[in-house]
Amino acid sequence: MQKNFFNFLLILKNKFLSEAHEVVTFNQLSELRQKYCSKEGILFQATEDFKALPSVEKKTIGNELINLKKFISEFFLKKEEEIFLKKLDFPEAIHFDPSLDRDNLLEGSLHPYTTGMSMVSDFFTSIGFEILKSEIVTTEYENFTSLNIPEGHPAREEHDTFWIDEKQLLRTHTSNVQVKAARERVYPFAFVSVGTVYRNEASDASHDFMFLQVEAMYFADDASLASLLYIIKNFLNFYFDRKNLEIRARPGSFPFVEPGLEIDFQCPFCRSGCSVCKQSTWIEVGGAGMVHRFVKEEMGLTKGHKGWAFGFGLTRLVMLKHRINDIRKLHQSLVTIG
Ligand code: FA5
Repeated sequence: MQKNFFNFLLILKNKFLSEAHEVVTFNQLSELRQKYCSKEGILFQATEDFKALPSVEKKTIGNELINLKKFISEFFLKKEEEIFLKKLDFPEAIHFDPSLDRDNLLEGSLHPYTTGMSMVSDFFTSIGFEILKSEIVTTEYENFTSLNIPEGHPAREEHDTFWIDEKQLLRTHTSNVQVKAARERVYPFAFVSVGTVYRNEASDASHDFMFLQVEAMYFADDASLASLLYIIKNFLNFYFDRKNLEIRARPGSFPFVEPGLEIDFQCPFCRSGCSVCKQSTWIEVGGAGMVHRFVKEEMGLTKGHKGWAFGFGLTRLVMLKHRINDIRKLHQSLVTIG
């Protein structure tokens, strides 16, 4: 009997080892654990059989049984770790979606940038504007020179630039789209372009080295400051889901527009001043103006062609809409938006 039980334990160990050898997934591991270690499992049965042995035999066989149990339980611990570490190297680990909430699969939402950008395209396509993609890596010519910002112009200094080499840089504003896109189109035309822009400046809660801008350009015989302000006002009301948000224009200096304007809009959250608008009831949104004749020449257009442009920080609007108090939160898990 004793010899038989010894043999039985030996065979059991070998059988376990050959089955354990096949295990590569957590499911297989759990099946094996169920088979050997559960209440109805093989080890439980072996223990029951052991109990039936005469007590003289129990002493020596008992140690063998304990060793086998120990061996098997250590195997499970090691194998679990091994599968886990291997899984990290598997390509399918990349598809793991940490935003999936197992208990409530319906929760989760689009990034505020994504909804902001689709609101921009919804609004502008509804009034006939084309949506353009423009380059993040741009040239000195497109970002500065073509926009009447020649070398040595103080406006270049204001755009703290990430230079790639002497002629290439990360766009500091979406206005870099203006001349190239206009050259590729036939008057009249209208387009809008949204994307990340980069400025080599220190980050704080409301300034960042990367943020989203929107550029809108309209060239047609009826282009005027009136239509410019009308479109900006309507866009802001659409974005904040309001009807009567007012805007105001102040003189602004941008070398590529003449006259140039700084545009503010009425704080969407108060009537008499709050922390969002710093008690002023107005919030700055961006710059605008009639396209400068120098820029029109670069576009291959003439003085008689009328056009306006405006550019604003979409990041600021997104922050306001979602009450996000620190700009850096927006891209903590974001790489780039083209
Ligand atoms: C420009 O970038 C011009 N290209 C806008 C323009 C277009 C004027 C067309 C005229 C015609 P400015 O540097 O002021 O202008 O930036 C526009 C907006 O971007 C600002 O009003 C602000 O909302 C946002 N902005 C600027 N710097 C930052 C920053 N570091 N972090 C977040 N948003 C910023």
